[in-house]
Amino acid sequence: MKSSKQTVIFHGGDYNPDQWLGYPDVLSEDFVLMKSANINAVSVGIFAWAALEPEEGNFQFSWLDDVFDRAEKSKIRVILATPSGGKPNWLALKYPEVRRVGRDGLREPQQRRHNHCLTSPVYRSKVREINTRLAQRYGDRPALALWHVSNEYLGYCYCDLCLAAFQNWLKERYQTLDRLNDAYWSRFWSHTFTEWEQIRTIDDSIHGLGLDWKRFMTAQCADFLRAEAIPLREHSPGIPVTTNFHPIDDYDYFRVAEEIDVVSWDSYPEWHAHPDPLDESDIAVETAFRLDVCRGMKSGKPFLLMECTPSQVNWRQVSPLRRPGMLRLSSLQAVAHGSDAVCYFQIRKGRGGSEKFHGAVIDHAGHANTRTFREVAALGATLGRMPDVTGTRVPAKVALVFDWENLWAINASQSPQNAHKEYRETCLHHYREFWRRGIAVDIVNARGGLDGYDLVVAPMLHLLPDGLPERLEAFVDGGGTLVATYQTGYVNETDLCFTGGAPGPLRRLLGIRVEEFDALPDSVRRSVVPRPSAGHGLSGVYEARHFFDIVHCEGAEPLAEYGSDFYAGSPALTVNTCGRGRAYYISSRNDDRFQGDFFGYLAGALHLPRVIPAPLPPGVTAHLREGGGERFLFLLNFTHRDAAVSIPPGAWREIDSGALVEDEVRLDPLGSKVFRSSRHPESWK
Ligand code: GAL
Repeated sequence: MKSSKQTVIFHGGDYNPDQWLGYPDVLSEDFVLMKSANINAVSVGIFAWAALEPEEGNFQFSWLDDVFDRAEKSKIRVILATPSGGKPNWLALKYPEVRRVGRDGLREPQQRRHNHCLTSPVYRSKVREINTRLAQRYGDRPALALWHVSNEYLGYCYCDLCLAAFQNWLKERYQTLDRLNDAYWSRFWSHTFTEWEQIRTIDDSIHGLGLDWKRFMTAQCADFLRAEAIPLREHSPGIPVTTNFHPIDDYDYFRVAEEIDVVSWDSYPEWHAHPDPLDESDIAVETAFRLDVCRGMKSGKPFLLMECTPSQVNWRQVSPLRRPGMLRLSSLQAVAHGSDAVCYFQIRKGRGGSEKFHGAVIDHAGHANTRTFREVAALGATLGRMPDVTGTRVPAKVALVFDWENLWAINASQSPQNAHKEYRETCLHHYREFWRRGIAVDIVNARGGLDGYDLVVAPMLHLLPDGLPERLEAFVDGGGTLVATYQTGYVNETDLCFTGGAPGPLRRLLGIRVEEFDALPDSVRRSVVPRPSAGHGLSGVYEARHFFDIVHCEGAEPLAEYGSDFYAGSPALTVNTCGRGRAYYISSRNDDRFQGDFFGYLAGALHLPRVIPAPLPPGVTAHLREGGGERFLFLLNFTHRDAAVSIPPGAWREIDSGALVEDEVRLDPLGSKVFRSSRHPESWK
């Protein structure tokens, strides 16, 4: 069995020699150019099915053999893809069932990609066959580093095969239609199901059904992925399996991630699009959050940045070039959050097709003398100086709960506040407070473990899955601090409201009940006023918007109250002591100043470890990875201004210059620096 231990940070990306088969000189140049760009890994074959099997049963591997030969000669690792993300014409036309059916019941024509049916037995068997051949042929090649299964699984199919599989999945879950009808409250509008076969439409008015459909499609994706991986695992034991995720909400990625060995992520933040031309912080926070979700999917294990653009994309209305420094900054951001790779889409820009103007390491000009190429090469050199970052962890004492099922339930619900539900934005609004203080946060889902954390922040936990209330109680009883907010504890797993009202089974833990909530337009604000003895860093009058719970304390102590409207005086922030810990409830969507004061207080009171003890300049962040006796410190400046940061004593050596750094570090606009230390400063203990 080959060793799967990764010993360098992968630096490379999607490479499509299958598009250049008539250009032998290009192939030779590519490997020379890749070496000079300090590239050490290529992802190959992602959309190469038509090149691998131009006709049914006619397999052509010589071009791929050649790629492996060249890669091995050049000491470049191969991340070999299975080609299921794009189906060849012969397959799609001969076997129509492999093409998806839309919600309107119409089967799609053969076009584009990422649109195969996840249930089709024909597609599954064709995929199994090509995957088996790839695994048999390349499973032992020394260059093979990783299996890249398919590409960005996404979307739903409503064909008869999928609907029948859904009905079976429901039968297994509910056993009887009575149970299903009860779980769905389907007497509503007379939609009681009397035969399983009646479940053919994903009716938006039955929320439990909509949730189950997304759960089923998640399960179907996981099952398809598992089936894809069977021959890979069989013929190349020890080679890890991944699939590249990207920002969609079609599936619960935490669940799909159970099928792979390592998570990988395609990241395309909209840098340089913010109205403030001097500050990229908003995009940086969002990107940081998504990267932490990737780390969270495997409980803190490093992940791989599988794609990002080295310069610009071509699928937004407007796609600015990455400014000088941004390639390095955003790549090191990924590494700082736990990535063991910086890979691009794409190594060489194709001559045709819809991505011919998408950024690439090697442009149509075909040489190394471009700004992008130079930046890629320089970054590759930096990454090459810190191979032992691979495998190190991001230590975190804060967990933020982000959950796809909760997102689906919130988005599907028809609520008094439909215009500004903003679940993800609310998670970011809370996350940001830690990001800007250099406090690491793990993202966990509603089923994730809470052991080892000092603080759990759980914004808008509208849907409470079975078991979560008990786990939150145990966490607080054991000395943890929980922060919950408005829109918590409304529905159970099948989207039925809790009798007894919100916050449902969290009522005892939070020591409150919510009588009703006011929903107001975005233009309207209400005030939140701390009680005189509130403490908690609160001062002055805060502004709140969108959601205003009218709360009654049942054991909790009010710390702040509303200052306006008919609910003036009712609790806007409460704390309840339970066992050895405390549970806070925030009743309204509060302004940035409240977030800063309250979470700043908690950070201090709970002694949450900060990478840099002193306050960081706005837009500058600090991150730590540690393991094997080494610590790596990342300082990242997401502004277009100079910045200075005082780092704690600790014998820090800058990775690039090798210099020992004493006190102050200066960062250029969009500057990024990495340091290494083998010493453990007192301030982190
Ligand atoms: C990704 C996809 C790549 C390429 C890239 C362009 O989502 O996986 O194949 O299309 O976008 O930005």
